Order: sequence, then C-alpha cells, then structure tokens
Amino acid sequence: MTDLTAFAAPSPDSLPAFMRALERQRSATTRVEWRALTKTSPIIKGWRFFLSLDPFTRWGLVKPRGYAGDATLLDFAYGHPSVQSHVEAAGPLGRLIYAETFAAQSSHSARDRIALLRDEVAVMAQQGSFSAMSLAAGHARELEGLPADIASRLSSFVALDIDPMSLQTAADSAGPVPFTPVRRNVVKDALDDLLPADLVYSLGLFDYLTDEIADTVLHKMLSITRPGGKCIVANLAHDAANLGYCEAIMDWWMITRSADDMLAMGQRAAAQGPRAFVPSVKQHGCFHYLELADSDH
Ligand SMILES: C[S@@+](CC[C@H](N)C(=O)[O-])C[C@H]1O[C@@H](n2cnc3c(N)ncnc32)[C@H](O)[C@@H]1O
Repeated sequence: MTDLTAFAAPSPDSLPAFMRALERQRSATTRVEWRALTKTSPIIKGWRFFLSLDPFTRWGLVKPRGYAGDATLLDFAYGHPSVQSHVEAAGPLGRLIYAETFAAQSSHSARDRIALLRDEVAVMAQQGSFSAMSLAAGHARELEGLPADIASRLSSFVALDIDPMSLQTAADSAGPVPFTPVRRNVVKDALDDLLPADLVYSLGLFDYLTDEIADTVLHKMLSITRPGGKCIVANLAHDAANLGYCEAIMDWWMITRSADDMLAMGQRAAAQGPRAFVPSVKQHGCFHYLELADSDH
C-alpha cells in the first residue's frame, strides 16, 4: 500500500496532488525501493502513459536524441519558441498538462539558472571586455536577448558540447556575440589546447557526473580560467523540487549534491591549482551554484 493508491485513475484535476504524492513517496522510501517502485507500479505506469500527452514529459521519456537531459528538453522548461510547434500539436489536454510541468518549481529554477548566468555576464561586462566559455553549452539560451551593450563586451564565447545539434542551435542563440562551437566530450577529452577564458561555467552537466568525474572536469575548468577570472558550476540540490516526477514519470535520473558537497568539490579543485581560487556556494531554487574566483582578482 503506497500513498499513490489514491491516484489510480489519472486525470488533469488530480495531477497537482499526484505530483505532490510522488515527491512524498520518493522521500519516504529508500533509493532502492523507489527505483523498484518506478519500474513496477501500475499506477505510475498509467500516469506515465497519460502524462505523455505533454510534449515536455514525452520528450523526457522518449529521449529522441538518445540520452537523458538534452538541450531540447531544457527548451520545454524555458518555454522557448523553438518547441512551440510541439506544444501547439499537443491538443488541449496535452497543453493543460504542459502548463503544469512548465510551472513546476524545477522548470522555474531552470529558467532562473540561465537568468542568473545572464546577470553574471552583465556584471562582468561592467568591468570591460571579457571572454566566456560554457561546458555542455546545449543551446546556450543565456546568450539570447543579451542587451547590445553587454553582448558587445563579450570578446569571445566558446561553446563546448558533445552533441553537434546542440552546437548548431547555440550558434543561433549567440546572435552578435563572437561564437566558437567546439565539439568535445568535456569528460573524456583534454581541454588544455583551448584559449583560457575569464568566465568558465557549466550548467546542466554536473548533475550527471559522479564525484570523481566531477573533480576531473572541475580541475580542467580551472586550468582554462584566465588569471583574475572565475568558474561557476550548477548542481541540483538534494531538496530540489519535482525529482520524483523527473525520475518516475520522465525516467530522468540525476545526481543531487548538498552545499557542503559542492564546497568540498570546490576545495579539492582549488587545492590542485593552478592558482589560488576561492570557492563559495549559494543556493537558488533547486540548484546550488559553486563559484571559484581567482583570489588575485
Ligand atoms: C541539460 S543540457 C544543458 C544545456 C545548457 N547548459 C543549459 O543549461 O540549458 C546538457 C548538454 O550537455 C551536453 N553534454 C552531456 N555530456 C557531455 C559531455 N561529456 N561533454 C560535452 N557535452 C556534454 C549535451 O549534449 C547537452 O547539450
């Protein structure tokens, strides 16, 4: 008997309560029990079928690019015009469900994540011309709509991504910003051939990396950060909203971290150099943001 038994018949009206029940169920069970429940529960399977009317949920579940958490999935969370045709084709019920998944706290926090990055770019632009690099850049939507005076301060923007389709779309997002796409697996490939940048960041990547791999990638990031520059890494917090929905309904599993985990990751990377970086962590919505600033700044 689970808390979900009251939700045997999927309907739009009971969706908000079902979403809350999923989160309660997730926190009341061990990881192993929860994984098993998401695979076997006929109630969850029934809802998954019903919720696939929503193009956002369906994209997450079907994984058209062959892997979880691609850049188009994020475009649904952003409400980006590029996914509008899917939303229009979804019919009234699909659009009703999308209204819920778009309004969910997790989608809200994803929108805030690119807004925060845009703010960071604006702050750096106040100090003069600077260069930036994004690891696992996806569609680089944070570059869209940058005011002309800020965009003109970006001397170069390097987008690193393993997926050529992401890089192609990111070039459009860049608009007037001098843009260099680099197809690279940032986990496996060396990055030391790249020109260092003032701002090196990664949004939506570390949520898939184990600690050991995260350490390796962060170390590479510091190695390509210019003196006086900074690195920023976002990661889902343990208490992030809607993880039950992502996992059980969209089959989208990510690695969460605490503020202490993030700080420890930053300290380990800083200890390896190449310069005296100072780590700090802040939480905004579903995400922790680790910042490593060169203390000579
Ligand atoms: C969740 S999207 C995030 C996109 C963007 N940063 C954002 O926040 O909207 C993840 C992106 O990471 C890319 N990616 C995943 N693993 C990667 C790897 N090992 N090296 C480079 N890119 C990777 C995917 O191709 C995808 O475009």
